[in-house]
Formats: sequence, C-alpha cells, structure tokens
Amino acid sequence: MLSKKLLQELRKQVGYELYSAHFYMAMEAYCVSKNLDGFANFFKVQTEEERAHARMFFDFIHRMNGEVVLDAIDKPPANFKDLLDVFTQGYKHEQFVTSRIYLLMDIATADKEHATVSFLKWFVDEQMEEEENFQKIMKQLELIGDNVNALLMLDRELAQRVFTVPAPLATQAQ
Ligand code: FEO
Repeated sequence: MLSKKLLQELRKQVGYELYSAHFYMAMEAYCVSKNLDGFANFFKVQTEEERAHARMFFDFIHRMNGEVVLDAIDKPPANFKDLLDVFTQGYKHEQFVTSRIYLLMDIATADKEHATVSFLKWFVDEQMEEEENFQKIMKQLELIGDNVNALLMLDRELAQRVFTVPAPLATQAQ
C-alpha cells in the first residue's frame, strides 16, 4: 500500500515527466528553427519517451489504488544560446530527474513498499541511459566546435532515432 508521502511524490513525478516532455518539445522547436531536422527528431522521440514515462507513473498510481491529481506544467525555456547549451540543459535536467527517481526509491524502500521498488527499478536503469545519451552528444558537440560538416553528419545520425514503447508499458497493453 502506498503511504501518503509516497503517493504524493509519485503524483509529483507524473508532473515532472510531463514537464520533461514540454521541455524537450521546446528544444525540438529550437532545432526546427535552425533547420537541423535530425536534432529535432532526437527531441521529438525524447518528448514521446517522456510522455510514456508520465503514463507509466499515472497507470501505476491507479493500479496501486491511488488517485492521480494533476498540477499545472511550468513554462519551458524558450531561448537557447546554441546546441551545446541545449544539450547541457538537457543533461542537467536528466540529472535532476535521476535525483527524483532516487528519492522515490528511498521512500519506497523505507516504506518496504516492494511493488513500488520493483516498478522504479526500470526507471533507475532508464535514467543511466538518459544521462549517458545527453552526455555523449554534449561531448561530441564540444569536439565538433564550429565544424559544419561534422555537425551535419551528427544531424543525419540523430535522424535515425525512433521511438519504441517502453517494455513495461508494451507488456501492460497486451
Ligand atoms: Fe523521464 Fe528523461 O526522464
């Protein structure tokens, strides 16, 4: 059973994941404005992933007999200095989300709420991957500097990214 505190924090997480979708959509818009379709695609997929994360928390709360209460979503950033700034902000944001998942895990563990611990394990692994993705592109952008050809090569690579429904959500839908 979810404690009041755990339920409250899980509800907040639905909001943080929805904000993440908003945040990455703003980055997609920036990339579209720069005609970088591959980078835009990276953030389009990222936005879809964040919506899926929100859905996973939303459904989990209901499955645990809790009630979801949605809050307003904050305004995302509108101006970015350059692509490196975009990915640096994205990386910092993912570090924040990781700290949120760890907080949830700490509460669930202290509560001996094993179903929630099991649910959150997927997110612990996912966050490692998310941080790695952002950090890798950040470092590549630092190497690229103002080499336009190299930037366009990376843009073409990122155009290949596709959204796949997270495994726990796909299983649930069956
Ligand atoms: Fe849902 Fe990017 O963390």
